[in-house]
Amino acid sequence: MELTREEERMLSGDMGEGVQKAMEILVSIGDIYGAERLIPVRSVQISGVSYKTIGDAGLEFLKDFASLNARAGVLATLNPAGIDLELENSDVPEGFLRKQREILKAYEAMGAVPSCTCTPYLAGNKPGFGEHVAWAESSAVAYANSVIGARTNRESAITALASAIAGRTPLYGLHLDENRLPTLRVSVSTELASVKDFSALGYYVGKHFDGIPIFEGIKPGVEGLKTLGAALATGKITMFHIAGVTPNETGDTGGLEEIDFGEDEKREVMEELNTCEDPDVICIGCPHCTIDEMRQVIAANPDREVWVYTARQNKHRIAERIKNPNIRIISDTCMVVQPLEEMGITSIGTNSAKCAFYTRNLSGLDVRFDTMRKLLKSD
Ligand code: F3S
Repeated sequence: MELTREEERMLSGDMGEGVQKAMEILVSIGDIYGAERLIPVRSVQISGVSYKTIGDAGLEFLKDFASLNARAGVLATLNPAGIDLELENSDVPEGFLRKQREILKAYEAMGAVPSCTCTPYLAGNKPGFGEHVAWAESSAVAYANSVIGARTNRESAITALASAIAGRTPLYGLHLDENRLPTLRVSVSTELASVKDFSALGYYVGKHFDGIPIFEGIKPGVEGLKTLGAALATGKITMFHIAGVTPNETGDTGGLEEIDFGEDEKREVMEELNTCEDPDVICIGCPHCTIDEMRQVIAANPDREVWVYTARQNKHRIAERIKNPNIRIISDTCMVVQPLEEMGITSIGTNSAKCAFYTRNLSGLDVRFDTMRKLLKSD
């Protein structure tokens, strides 16, 4: 890979061991993927923040990196942690709490902003069309590439951290025009009446196909777009187009393979993701809720316990208006990376296919996957 004189100095250790280590990671990745050079990034979104997902090995890695005096050179925001940073978290085991705080301390020592949300684009980290970023949260990657028209590969926690410190990423994959065109046409012959339906569509396509789909005949709002991207990314898909909705160039789609998502496909997803009828708690906010989604929960006046996950500033804007004791607004974490299984929860209800998939496969809980409207009422 061609490096500038400044990058050569960074790699040789002239700018400190932390920068050197970050450059070593990025240059190795660039060599693996055949990148010609590094490019500057506008911002970074770092995953691997919850102790539940990175464990002791991840914590030690972060402490070692931080001890090299590495500091982020660009805006670096964090994914959800395993706890709400503003609560006592008395239902979370003490060991988990302590290690979670150590993880956040290491990230903050490296200059990361403890935003702890998977919707950074709704919370102060929103790149412009065509800007290069290095994001690791898969749902945010899909949203950035597809809805905003920014450019990012699906980074790992380690490569995103390296990009934060070096301010660069290797030029390959979705940073290049030729890799961003659609490879599959998806027509939809069933009604998509809710966020849950857009999520089911994304889950089906992400599970059975690879590449970059272009959807025809659908018009989701922000909530539908974020959940569609999250569900697609539950498989390998990190970018999509929607004809007439998303801003990226699509080229000629005439000769592409075409598939249909109809009633049978929707039913297949419902049957796969539903394992229980009457969950312990309803969890809304995968990806984190918009203000509008929170308003919908409040307006529904749920008669059963609902945990609503969102970014911290959204929580502050809305929490005081809630009179219904069944609604609990939670920030900085999510139902998947929280240690729910250690908090006495055995099943949850969700309108997100990504949440349903990981709740079963990462946390081992039962799931009811349904519309928000049906989940919030017990009859
Ligand atoms: Fe966000 Fe957690 Fe879902 S990180 S996309 S709410 S699994």
